[in-house]
Amino acid sequence: MSGSSSRRPQKKKVLTGRKILVTAGPTREEIDPVRYITNHSSGKMGYALAEAARELGAETTLISGPVNLTPPAGVNFIAVETTAELHRAVKQEFKKTDCLIMAAAPSDFTPLAKAKEKIKKDKNNIRLTLTDTPDILKDINRLKKKNQLLVGFALETENALSNARKKLKEKNLDMIVMNNIRDKGAGFEHDTNKVTLLRPGKKPVAWPLMSKKEISFKLLEILAGLF
Ligand code: CTP
Repeated sequence: MSGSSSRRPQKKKVLTGRKILVTAGPTREEIDPVRYITNHSSGKMGYALAEAARELGAETTLISGPVNLTPPAGVNFIAVETTAELHRAVKQEFKKTDCLIMAAAPSDFTPLAKAKEKIKKDKNNIRLTLTDTPDILKDINRLKKKNQLLVGFALETENALSNARKKLKEKNLDMIVMNNIRDKGAGFEHDTNKVTLLRPGKKPVAWPLMSKKEISFKLLEILAGLF
């Protein structure tokens, strides 16, 4: 991912003096010492955002779940595994930041009890009891100061706009970036994405399919204007 920046014309450093916190990737919730629950998040959107934020002059911190990507140079990097660890790290870093962008896809469920030893297959019809993990954005809202921006992503498969609107309101966000994984070239693993931006009291703005890096620059330039 890094390296591509050298071919691009220099962007105006609209985020100089700003601190941006980005989360990326999935989380893993352990079932037993060899198995876990996770999701298909590749981390590409969050890593592109972190790299773009740094290129626009921001002091950038990236908190990432387990992914196969190299952290961008010049970005403070914190590795986490579970939603609880991500929650702790976000809480810790949020107070130092001007804007949190939650591009991570934290697991919403975790096994109620983690088996200490490997669960053997001779146990038939195993039932996993799952419990909710905390909603990080909702919780962080309690700590939000007037001059801080909170941006979420909404990952949808159906009723995308109405679900995203609901999340924007319920999580009390300044912006939500909706992507529908049913759209061609959007969502997990792709280097491209097709997003719709929603802001309180504004009409949704749908962007065409673009590279995740291009989306990142455009998004961050809009955020720079909101500070
Ligand atoms: N998010 C969060 N804490 C969680 C789960 C999600 O802060 N435990 C954040 C994500 O990082 C994203 C936003 O909330 O910015 C929306 O995530 P999404 O997975 O689309 O929705 P959920 O809130 O998990 O709701 P649902 O799974 O019902 O769609």
